[in-house]
Amino acid sequence: MESIDATQSLKQLEEECKKADLPLKQSATNLVFGKGNPNADIMFVGESPGNNEDLQGMPFVGAAGKNLDKLLNTVGLSMQDVYIANILKYRPPQNRPPQEEEIRAHTPWLIKQIKEIKPKVVCSLGNYATKFFLSGLNPEKMKNQPGITQIHGKVQDIEFEGMKFKLIPLFHPAAIIYNRALITLWEKDMEIVKEITNKKQ
Ligand code: URA
Repeated sequence: MESIDATQSLKQLEEECKKADLPLKQSATNLVFGKGNPNADIMFVGESPGNNEDLQGMPFVGAAGKNLDKLLNTVGLSMQDVYIANILKYRPPQNRPPQEEEIRAHTPWLIKQIKEIKPKVVCSLGNYATKFFLSGLNPEKMKNQPGITQIHGKVQDIEFEGMKFKLIPLFHPAAIIYNRALITLWEKDMEIVKEITNKKQ
C-alpha cells in the first residue's frame, strides 16, 4: 500500500477536525489547526489562538508569531524547519485561559497531529503547554507542575499517549518580546534543540 505523506494526512485530519463539534467552535471565526513543515523534526506547541490567528485560521500570525519568526531567524531556522500547533484549536473568547473540558475535547486532535508528524523534539511554548505535556493529560495535575523559568531548555524524555519524544520547554515568544536576557536564554535553548535534531540516530 502506498504510504501517505504527512502533508496529505494532516490535510485530511484538518478537514475532519473542521467537521468535529468542539467547544469554542461557535464563538470562533476559524479553526486554527497548524502550519509549517509536516515532515519537520521539531514541533512547537503553543497555548491557544489569539485574535489574528482566529481571523486568519493560522497559528502564530499575530505579534507572537512575528516575534517567533524573528527568533527562529536568529538561530538560523525558519518555519520550514518546524511544525507549529496549539493545544486549543479554536480561540477562547477574550483569550481567557483554556478550561478543562476544552482541553479534554481539543487535545485528541493535537495528539493525532503529533502522531502524523513524529517529531524528534517537541518544544512546548510557555508555561501552559509545558504543564500540559508534563501532566499527562490530567488537567488536575497541571496545577502542580514546575514553571517555565525553572525548566526551560531542560530536555525531558517523555512517553505521551503511546509516543516517545524529547520535550524541551521554551519561553513563549510573546513573553520575551522586550526582554533581551530572556531572548538570549531562548537562543541558547534552541541550540540544544538544534543539536538533538541534527544528531544521527
Ligand atoms: N499564542 C499562542 O500560544 N498561539 C498562537 O497561535 C498565538 C499566540
